Amino acid sequence: MVSHSGLITVMERAVRKAAPRLRRDFGEVQNLQVSRKGPADFVSMADKQAEETIVEELRKARPDWGMLLEEGGEIAGDPSKPRWIVDPLDGTSNFLHGIPHFAISIAVDDPIGGITHGMVYQPLTDEGFWAEKGRGAWVQGNRLRVSSRRDLADSLVATGIPFLGHGDFVQWSRIFGAVAPEVAGIRRFGSAALDLAWVAAGRYDAFWESGLKPWDVAAGWLLVKEAGGFVTDFRGTDRAVEKGEVLAANDQLHSRLHKLVANALR
Ligand code: IPD
Ligand code: CA
Ligand code: CA
Ligand code: CA
Repeated sequence: MVSHSGLITVMERAVRKAAPRLRRDFGEVQNLQVSRKGPADFVSMADKQAEETIVEELRKARPDWGMLLEEGGEIAGDPSKPRWIVDPLDGTSNFLHGIPHFAISIAVDDPIGGITHGMVYQPLTDEGFWAEKGRGAWVQGNRLRVSSRRDLADSLVATGIPFLGHGDFVQWSRIFGAVAPEVAGIRRFGSAALDLAWVAAGRYDAFWESGLKPWDVAAGWLLVKEAGGFVTDFRGTDRAVEKGEVLAANDQLHSRLHKLVANALR
């Protein structure tokens, strides 16, 4: 077991401060105020309040850092310092439907080192997946490793499916048509941050989705990398976080899936 760095402690403090209210709101979801940001893009008071709490904690610890927040947008900070990237509630649709699968995602984006720290925290199970560049990925004191399966035929693959007003249906269908017949199963659980954390934990063997934002991807991207996995965009380049386009797996499966995806998108 490795000890936390100071920044992981800061992130942990922030998620633990926001979690009790998320748990309470989840139990009384019918009373929550909900509005739309797009045709099927919902935001509730729970998203906003969690973000406020997290921002307050992060700001207390690093007052001069900027932030990229799903709900609050960009907050400028000292450009020579890192910034926080925060999704206060990843899986809002699940949350609003009473489906117990959602998470908080926080990452540190350093102007030189890129994403150096990440945490994906599941309030209902109290699981905090964290990673630090060069120091591995961890949950509850246990080191995370991506799965070691080598054959697509044995693999359980997660994805995110486009929905009303969001995403590229044709692209997704082509990839699905190429991948589904080759693998043991496909899952769509509805939290991209957890999808990546679960690839890091070896629960899923692989994950693909496009149309994502940096706050969905940044922390999970580092978790997968530090768990020994590969994360690229669909072309195989290292731009998954900026493009919001993700193909994540262990090295063997990544290269197999990448071939299928490349053929499907030709
Ligand atoms: C969403 C979830 C979902 C993904 C969507 C995201 P949100 O984030 O990660 O799995 O398919 O594209 O927008 O809005 O629940 O934070
Ligand atoms: Ca959202
Ligand atoms: Ca999200
Ligand atoms: Ca969100």
